Amino acid sequence: MDHLPNPAAVRPAMCPEHGDFESRNIISRIWSKCPTCESVARQAQEDREEASKQADVERRHAERLHFARVPARFIGRTFESFKADTEAQKHAQAIARDFAEQFADNRKHGRGLIFSGLPGTGKSHLAAAILQTMLKRDVCYVTCLDMIREVRGAWRKDSDRSELEVLGTLGGLDLLVIDEVGVQYGTEGEQTIIFDVLDRRYRDVLPTVILTNQDKAGFKTFIGERTFDRLTETCRWVPFDWSSYRAQARKDDNAESREAFVPRSDMWQGAV
Ligand SMILES: Nc1ncnc2c1ncn2[C@@H]1O[C@H](COP(=O)(O)OP(=O)(O)OP(=O)(O)O)[C@@H](O)[C@H]1O
Ligand SMILES: [Mg+2]
Ligand SMILES: [Zn+2]
Repeated sequence: MDHLPNPAAVRPAMCPEHGDFESRNIISRIWSKCPTCESVARQAQEDREEASKQADVERRHAERLHFARVPARFIGRTFESFKADTEAQKHAQAIARDFAEQFADNRKHGRGLIFSGLPGTGKSHLAAAILQTMLKRDVCYVTCLDMIREVRGAWRKDSDRSELEVLGTLGGLDLLVIDEVGVQYGTEGEQTIIFDVLDRRYRDVLPTVILTNQDKAGFKTFIGERTFDRLTETCRWVPFDWSSYRAQARKDDNAESREAFVPRSDMWQGAV
C-alpha cells in the first residue's frame, strides 16, 4: 500500500546549501527535507518568539513606568548603581533596599521614609530605585508642587475629575513618593492639601516616602505641626548629609559607564 509511511524507506538527497543528506519517507510521497535547513529554520523561529517575548516585557515595563510616573532621568537608577563609599551612604542605601524588600510588611503597617538632605545626594535616585522594584503594585511618584496643582486643578469648572477623586487616587496608592517637599514657601492652602493627602494615607495605614532638602526643623515648619506629628509616628527619618554627586553623575553619563538597563518580567511579577 503505497500511501502508508515506510519508516525504512530512505533515499539520498541533496541540499544546494548543505550538500548530501539522507531523506526519509514521511508519508506517501512526502520526504524529509535537509535536517540542517530545518534546524536553522527552527532556531530562527525560536529567536523570533524570544524577541517578541522580550519586546512584550519591555512594552509592559514602559507602561508601568508611565503609570508610576517615574521621571525619565531616574529610569534604570537602581540600588546597585547607587555608589556608597561612606558609612552614612551605605546606611541610606540599605534602608532604601530593605524598605523595598520588606514592602509587604511595610505596607501592612503603613511604614514610610523621609529622605532629608542637600541637593544631589541621591534621594530621588534611591526613591526611583524603590519604585522600580514594585511596579506591579499601585505606586506613584509625584513632586509636591504637582500634587498641589493636581488637587487645585480639580477645583476648576472644566476639570474632568472632582477633588475627591484626585484625593482618593493619591490617598489610595500602595506607595506614594512625594519629591521636592519644602522647596517653596508653604502657604496655609498648600499645607492643607498636603495634610489632606497624608492624613488619608495615615488613616488607611498606607506608606509614603517623602523627599526634602529641609532639615527636621525646616521640614516641620513647612509641613505644619499636625502633619509632622503623623509622619513622626509612621516614617523613618533618613539623613543624606554628604555633598552633591551631580558633578560625578555628569562624568558617569559622559563615560557611559551606566549599564544599559534591561527590564525583566520578574520586576513586576511574583514576590514583593
Ligand atoms: N551615590 C550615588 N551613586 C551614583 N549616582 C548617584 C549617587 N548619588 C546621586 N547620584 C546621581 O546624581 C544625580 C543627582 O541625584 P538625585 O537627583 O537623586 O539627588 P537628590 O538628592 O534628589 O537632589 P535634589 O534634592 O536636588 O532633588 C542623579 O543622576 C543620580 O542618579
Ligand atoms: Mg531629587
Ligand atoms: Zn540545507
